[in-house]
Amino acid sequence: MKMLVVLLAVAGCSRDTASVPTPKADPPEVKAAPVDPAADADALVKANEAAGLLGTSLKQRILQEMADGGPVAAIAACSDEAQALTAQVRGQKQVAVGRASTKLRNPNNSGPEWVKEWLAATEGTPAAEATGLSEVVNGPNGRVARVIKPIAVEAPCLTCHGAPEAIPEDVKAVLAERYPKDQATGYAVGDLRGALWAEARVASATP
Ligand code: HEC
Repeated sequence: MKMLVVLLAVAGCSRDTASVPTPKADPPEVKAAPVDPAADADALVKANEAAGLLGTSLKQRILQEMADGGPVAAIAACSDEAQALTAQVRGQKQVAVGRASTKLRNPNNSGPEWVKEWLAATEGTPAAEATGLSEVVNGPNGRVARVIKPIAVEAPCLTCHGAPEAIPEDVKAVLAERYPKDQATGYAVGDLRGALWAEARVASATP
């Protein structure tokens, strides 16, 4: 997969050309830490791994549970374990990570602002055409690597995310009970279901 690394200019270098120079202007030197390409790349790898790990572990878990106990058991597993698994990957990889969507089942999955922006921009795009994100930016709390991987709807997902009339009654009942505000139905195979996202801090070179 081709990785697009967007290195944003260091904010501290920008110059306000419109401002009138004041004689005794000795502006406080706000020096942004020098960009370390190796540290940027490390953080990107970390974010990428965390998003990938969360995606594969959740999918494996749900498909296994579907095969072993059927969809109702799988919902229980998913709803009991998805958040815990997410926290586990977060702890293991030391990165912020999650799944988000414009049509949420669990409102806790709304994701940070930059993920919401990507979701809004890709809304309606078929999953195969959606371009993920892989960039390093200077965020409000320092330099961070951000990764988004589009999530596609596949055939096994339809039991729980497909058209309401295609969802088995027992599944519908459990979903209604656990997720009274569920918006995550009505999908077809190939639709973009949402985003797997991760954000890793770039280690600073200076102590
Ligand atoms: C057995 C039912 C079931 C199946 C099958 C299923 N899901 Fe889900 N899905 C859920 C439940 C339950 C949640 C809410 C989990 C939580 O509480 O965090 C969820 C949440 C999600 C979320 C997080 C965003 C949100 O709406 O809260 C994504 C993304 C998602 N599913 C994608 C998929 C994809 C892709 C597939 C197929 C590979 C799939 N799901 C298959 C039940 C299912």
